[in-house]
Parts: sequence; structure tokens; C-alpha cells
Amino acid sequence: MAIRQIDKLDFKDKRILLRLELNVPLKDGKVQDTTRIEQALPTVKFLLKGGASVIIVAHAGRPNGNVVEELRLTEIAKEMEKLLGHKIKKLDEAIGKKVEKEIEKMKPGEIIMLENIRFYPEEEANDIKFSKTLASYADYFVMDAFGTTHRAHASTHGVAEYIPAYAGILVSKEIHALSPLLEQPRRPITLVLGGAKIWSKIGIIKNFIAKADHILLGGGIANTFLYAQGHYVGESLFEKDKVDIAREIMLDCEKNHDQLHLPEDVIVADEMSDDAKTLNVPVTDIEGDAKIFDIGPRTAEKYAQIIKNSQTIFWNGPMGLYEHPPFKKGSETIAKAMAETYGTAIVGGGDSVDCIKRCGYKREDFTHISTGGGASLEFLAGTMLPGIEPLLK
Ligand code: 3PG
Repeated sequence: MAIRQIDKLDFKDKRILLRLELNVPLKDGKVQDTTRIEQALPTVKFLLKGGASVIIVAHAGRPNGNVVEELRLTEIAKEMEKLLGHKIKKLDEAIGKKVEKEIEKMKPGEIIMLENIRFYPEEEANDIKFSKTLASYADYFVMDAFGTTHRAHASTHGVAEYIPAYAGILVSKEIHALSPLLEQPRRPITLVLGGAKIWSKIGIIKNFIAKADHILLGGGIANTFLYAQGHYVGESLFEKDKVDIAREIMLDCEKNHDQLHLPEDVIVADEMSDDAKTLNVPVTDIEGDAKIFDIGPRTAEKYAQIIKNSQTIFWNGPMGLYEHPPFKKGSETIAKAMAETYGTAIVGGGDSVDCIKRCGYKREDFTHISTGGGASLEFLAGTMLPGIEPLLK
């Protein structure tokens, strides 16, 4: 995929509107994880070094077009200022007279961060006037919010209609890391998919039915497939309205490489707690009101062997409720195999990334850790993402 990159751009004395992915976990207004902020720094540094002034646009949470005090970007700006070692002037609005005045005064080397762009309903509506206003602030638009490239919003898509658009360093890196999965990946190819809901994973499964050698399922999504296969799943979480689509996918897989793997054994318990009493049972032996909270050791070991024997592996979604020690083992075994495999190991999705951290692994233990959960899934589903499409050469 050929995209316009910022290394080809002369931005000395120019104003850049830079869309970043700074949607980080916040608790009591404080930033809990700085990964996304750290990943945004190379582009900011590159632009400053080249003599630009930088206007940062970002969002936090889902305020649905309203001002939500806890979702202001003030703390995120402070955290970024610390990590960058450079002053950031955080504004309390994203458009309007005050903002315009501040932008007019900007000198090369200065940074302004606009307020949470999702405080404005026009953002998610991809409003033309709003996009034009944002575009009027700068000479160039640089898109570096990979995690938001699957949203057709004013600051990710609309704005690129009105000023020249380029990909930042992170977006370029993500496309470079994920594209080989779509374009001639080294085989065997394995997808490891978990988490609670199927809907976000249907696209990627369908796109890989003809390509993947193995699709390993765990978490809540596996429960829906087990149910569709006719297993009793007790009181386990599963999606009744997705049973038909699960059956359809199973049939398609049978017709192709018969590559779909479901858990053979699981960890069940009555309650989800740190001291829950657990039982390891074959999926044929689930009884009463038992709830599945993890894949079992036999399944985890089988999945780990497949991962280690694969050349290309993509993992999104934990195998169970890894936050609770009794249900962590399945995801931990996957994380270990991903870290140990000689194949290309790519991890995406906030929960899987959190899980590998809790298991004591570092970024360097994997080929690539994507900053986009939904975005990486949609990218691998083969859809042209609205935040990437304007960057194509
Ligand atoms: C993310 O955190 O995955 C992105 O910021 C997108 O957030 P959204 O799902 O609220 O659009």
C-alpha cells in the first residue's frame, strides 16, 4: 500500500494539523497507561525538528458531542509535555475565535493541543463546515492516529478533502507491519481471536477463511461457536443472535482449509473472582450453571504448538478473564508462545496488549504491537479505512 509520508514533505515554517491517537485509559482524570502517548512522540519530534508549528487534534472516550469534564485532554497534554520535554499549550476549545487567535500567534517549534474533538457533534458527523474550519488552521494535515483510522470523522477523514494529507510515522509503521498479513504472508498463517464479542471479528475471519491455515478461538466468542456446534455451555457468556453467523463461518471453514479450532477443554467456575473455585473439564462435560472463564490447559498447549509452528501470527482478544488469576493461564500460554515463536508475531487490541504486559512481556518480545484494536481488525478485514484512504498516493 503506497501512502504519502512526511519524510517527503518540506514543512519548514509551515503549520501542521496533526491528528493523534491519545485515547488512553483515564482514572480520576489521571492517565493510567502512556503507551499511545509514547507512540505519538516520534512524529511530533520529527515535525518540530523540521521547523513546523504543530496543532494537535485528538479525542478521549465517547462524549457523544457533549462537553464531559472528565474527558478534557488537559492531563493527557501534561503527560505528553513531560514525555516530550517540550511545552504544549493546551486550549479549552477546538474551534472558535480564541482558538484562531492562538493559532495566528504560533511560531515554528510551538505546539498547541486542541480540546477533545469529540466534544463537538460535527466531528463524528464528519461535517463539511467543521472539516473546513479545522483545515483552515494549517498548511498540511498529518494523520498519525492509527487507532482511529477506521472512523470516518471530520478530523480523521473530512479534513483531508481541504488540505494536503500525509501519513505520520506511526500510521506508516502500522501499515508497514500489518500489510504483509494481507499481501503474501509467510505460511503457515494463524489467527488467534478471543474477547467477548464476535461482531468486531467477523470481517477478519471472513477475509482469512481462504488464507489462514489456523483460526484459534477462545474467550466469549468461542462460547458462541461451541453453542452453535451443539455443546451445552451452562451459564457462560455467549451471543445468541450470532449463532447463525457462527454456523455459517464453521461451514465456510470446513469447505476451505478446515482451519477453525475451538477449545477442547475449558476452565469453569461459578463466579468470576480472584479466589474462585475452578474446574478443568472437556467441553462435552459442562454441567448445570457452570460458566466458562478460560480455555483449558490441553487447548492452550495445542494452540501454543500451532503458534510456534506458524510463520505469521496475529492475536487479538484474550482467551479468558485474564484479569483474575484463576482464569489467566490460557491467555498467558498464548502470550508466551507469541513471544517465543520464530514467526512474525503481531498483537492488537487493548486487552491483549494489557494481558502481555501483565504477563511480564515487553514490546520487543513481539514483532509488532498495534496501537489500534478496532482499526487493526478492520484493516485486516481488507476494508479500505477512511482515515487511510486520503493518504494513498
Ligand atoms: C480506540 O481506542 O480504539 C480508538 O480511539 C477508537 O475509539 P472509538 O471506538 O471510540 O471510536
